[in-house]
Amino acid sequence: MKISLPHPGTDIDLSTVDLFDPALYAAGDPHAIWSLLRERAPVHRQTLADGRSFWSVTKYHDVNDVLRDHTRFTSNRGTLLSILGGTDPAGGKMMAASDPPVHTAMREPMNKVLSHRALKTRRPQIRRVVHRLLAPLLDGGTWDVAAAGAGFPMAFTGTLMGLPEADWPRLTRLTTMAVAPEDPDYRQSDGDGTLAAAHHELFAYFSGQVKRRVRHGFADDDLIGFLTELEADGRKLRHDEIVYNCYSLLLGANVTTPHAIAATVLALIEHPQEYRRLLDDPSLITGAVEEGLRWASPANHFMRYVTRDITLRDQELKAGDAVVAWLGSANRDEEVFADPFRFDVSRSPNRHVAFGFGPHYCIGAPLARIALRLLFEEIVATVDAFAPAGPVEHLTSNFVAGIKSMPLTARLRPGAERILDEAVTADGPVPA
Ligand code: HEM
Repeated sequence: MKISLPHPGTDIDLSTVDLFDPALYAAGDPHAIWSLLRERAPVHRQTLADGRSFWSVTKYHDVNDVLRDHTRFTSNRGTLLSILGGTDPAGGKMMAASDPPVHTAMREPMNKVLSHRALKTRRPQIRRVVHRLLAPLLDGGTWDVAAAGAGFPMAFTGTLMGLPEADWPRLTRLTTMAVAPEDPDYRQSDGDGTLAAAHHELFAYFSGQVKRRVRHGFADDDLIGFLTELEADGRKLRHDEIVYNCYSLLLGANVTTPHAIAATVLALIEHPQEYRRLLDDPSLITGAVEEGLRWASPANHFMRYVTRDITLRDQELKAGDAVVAWLGSANRDEEVFADPFRFDVSRSPNRHVAFGFGPHYCIGAPLARIALRLLFEEIVATVDAFAPAGPVEHLTSNFVAGIKSMPLTARLRPGAERILDEAVTADGPVPA
């Protein structure tokens, strides 16, 4: 998805905009539309050709309101536009598609294993993964940061979940098929068929993984084993609940983190003075990662259904209506972020909603933050400057603001060879 500057004077007929169309995010510019919606129609209804419709909220505080209040906006029927109008079979079974108290009962124990404190010991392993990721820069040729980053989450989430390394490339592909079934590089027959095929294979895969753990009783070794033992509301999770949550955890990690990386690197190329600030003062890296998350907003939207008739701003929403909270728009709301189209590594405050808001606030945020900070620490330690080496290709998806391909070259800093060479040689082939 292009990250454009505002278009003063641009006029778009808001009755014709199509925020559902995945192609908009591959070639078009939703930011131009979102800016106008925030200004003129912050609660806006779109009806599709087949009669299905949804409300869009684009202002920061409305987005927070929708994500926060499960009594008016339920997650039980599914949270992605791709299943608009249907009923999510994972509703009430998967944490992401449940409301409190079912949601809370699953989330509390999971939170403990995914907290920043619990994950701190994982830092050395993730740093080794980062070195492996950056090692190709030593060759001095063209490096595709998007392609390299695509496999990055598997190397820490896959390890955390105890998934065999041989399966990682296929799982990476399947999770992208699930969020971008219309993308020409991932589409099989048609979009619906691709989505169904990805779901079928992923659920069968996780079902096998869960059965193996239950059969062999190595429950405590990894996150899937943990889920087989987890007690929510006084009972163990059922097989299908474990499988849905495995799917959700892997999807959550795989389809978002790579795009935060590519979009942040792109922003740093486009704003070289901001990269120079990081080189001069690496203590700014934490803020740069947050600004990259705001800038990229890798999860474009989350959806809810209205539980009872309500008024939102001046619009009447009926029970059963779908409401889409556009996170990418909220993160550019000029009422909340000063000069929102300026990329500023020291932006403060920066209360972005890239990880959502309220009860479903991303449970993987501590892990994603650890991984992104380590990655950018190593980039700043080794790379003096990046330069583009080919066109940037965007993912065809209304859910993930993704970059598929972004070739670049890097001028390395003195000592980079030593850091990456030594780290990679010392690592051995498989990070564990
Ligand atoms: C840059 C990386 C990431 C971004 C931008 C991101 C974004 C989000 C957002 C916006 C939500 C809120 C969903 C909602 O309100 O319905 C969410 C929830 C979730 N994320 Fe992430 N995520 C990231 C990384 C991860 C990772 C690494 C994991 C797995 C370890 C993960 C797993 C999940 C899960 C399971 C939920 C559902 C939580 C719940 O329902 O309580 N995410 N994520």
